Amino acid sequence: MRFEVTTGQLAQFSGEALVLGILPGSQSLDDTAKAIDEALGQYVSNCLNAENAVFKAKPGETLILPTYGKLPAAHVVLVGLGKVEELKSSQWRRAVAAAVRACKKLKVKAVAMGLSEAVVGAMGIEAASRLLAEGAVLGQYDFNIRKTPSKASEDNGESAPNGGSTLEVLTVVDAQADRLEAIQRGLRVGQLVAEHTNLARHWVNDSANYVTPAFLKQQAEGIPGLQCEVLDLERIKALGMGAFQLVAQGSEHPPFLIHLCYKPSGVPAKKVALVGKGITFDSGGLSLKPAASMELMKMDMAGAAAVLATLKAVSELKDLNIEVHGFIPTCENMPSGASSKPGDIVTAMNGKTIEVNNTDAEGRLILCDALTYAQQQVDPDELVDIATLTGACVTALGKVAAGVMGTSDTLIQGIQAAGEQAGEKLWQLPLYDEYRAFLKSDVADLINSGAKGQAGSSAGGMFLKEFVDKKRAWAHLDIAGPAWATSDTPEVPKGGTGFGVRTLLYYLYGWQA
Ligand code: BES
Ligand code: ZN
Ligand code: ZN
Repeated sequence: MRFEVTTGQLAQFSGEALVLGILPGSQSLDDTAKAIDEALGQYVSNCLNAENAVFKAKPGETLILPTYGKLPAAHVVLVGLGKVEELKSSQWRRAVAAAVRACKKLKVKAVAMGLSEAVVGAMGIEAASRLLAEGAVLGQYDFNIRKTPSKASEDNGESAPNGGSTLEVLTVVDAQADRLEAIQRGLRVGQLVAEHTNLARHWVNDSANYVTPAFLKQQAEGIPGLQCEVLDLERIKALGMGAFQLVAQGSEHPPFLIHLCYKPSGVPAKKVALVGKGITFDSGGLSLKPAASMELMKMDMAGAAAVLATLKAVSELKDLNIEVHGFIPTCENMPSGASSKPGDIVTAMNGKTIEVNNTDAEGRLILCDALTYAQQQVDPDELVDIATLTGACVTALGKVAAGVMGTSDTLIQGIQAAGEQAGEKLWQLPLYDEYRAFLKSDVADLINSGAKGQAGSSAGGMFLKEFVDKKRAWAHLDIAGPAWATSDTPEVPKGGTGFGVRTLLYYLYGWQA
């Protein structure tokens, strides 16, 4: 989808459809909405006033109106913004996404919309534009490349090849010429942020027979503007990453440790290292998962997808005075004659020995070596890992929020605040000293699964903490819940969500609504 910006009156737009954001209540139409309402013979205001109105302007509610020649545009898509007192960035993003989903149903190629005065008043012109683009691009997403075009179009009512969206241009119409530059700046950022969220969604949604460790390596190598180094099995062995190697050894697909780096042109204000769990399929290994829990385990590389997409977005957005590194340990967790066995004892890169009593607690095993390597290689000011680490986090927080824990409250709160702006929730979980008891092994320095049903997410965090330097600012994001959606919202359809991409980008760039 392309964005265009033009000065003028929305009511005069002569394309196929225009989108109009509406607040509930009769007095709330701004000048743009009034002009359209008048042209439609007060249909909109009558509708809002009616007792049993078909459209109440609830957040994200849509209504498609044919204009029958009363306006140059063929359709008006009304979208509810919700109450003005509650109008926050997430409502606006969602409203635009809902409007774009409605436009997809209409199969239109070109739509126009304005920035409602209520929205601009609540968040400023540039943020409103950024969120408009975010909502539009997020709302356009569907995963359908693995369907034949005819099947995709039958399911989604779309006519484009692959069943993809037909929406090609969204024109932002604004009456004030002096705002166009700010609108353009906001749109550019929002578009890139959402396109990279969709890219991460795509990688998570696509199946493990396509998305292999070699596939992720290939994606990383092809990003212009980033340095990329990939360690293969030989280097992984030579560096002594015994824990990572143990997880990888059961699979036919060789593992890789991908290292991406963005360097700003000037002296960087700080160095941030992101580490993403890249298990392209988690069968559990010999501690095999039951079929129902295994079904979705192509999504166990969602942390890797988030890191990869974030770095790629940074390379395109530029204008970031931070050195950003991405580390992605990637392999499969499979049972085989060569795989690790419960009880195996390995030595991690930092010299600590680990008893692997459960081969399904593999995420912490690949991450611990990647954390050691990241700190050794770049000595980052801030270290953030993101992983679909524990089912316990889904039990605790559901699909609604990620768990966040770590060594620096400043970093944790910074990430939570960024998440709030980005429309992603992160809830802090504790790393109490008492939980160290979960790591105690009779035969090695650490055990990988000792919690036995108690505080499982914190236990995972405690394990990783053993591999983080005492003074390092470190945060661990457990995204096992929100990485995969089981119900639709306009901006987040079922399936891979791209969770983390927006939070990480908002954190790095410090955007505010
Ligand atoms: N990849 C899973 C965690 C997961 C579960 C992600 C559900 C997304 C949805 C992870 O590798 C795992 O299997 N963890 C175990 C840890 C346990 C053995 C300590 C779990 O949560 O059961
Ligand atoms: Zn597992
Ligand atoms: Zn896993």
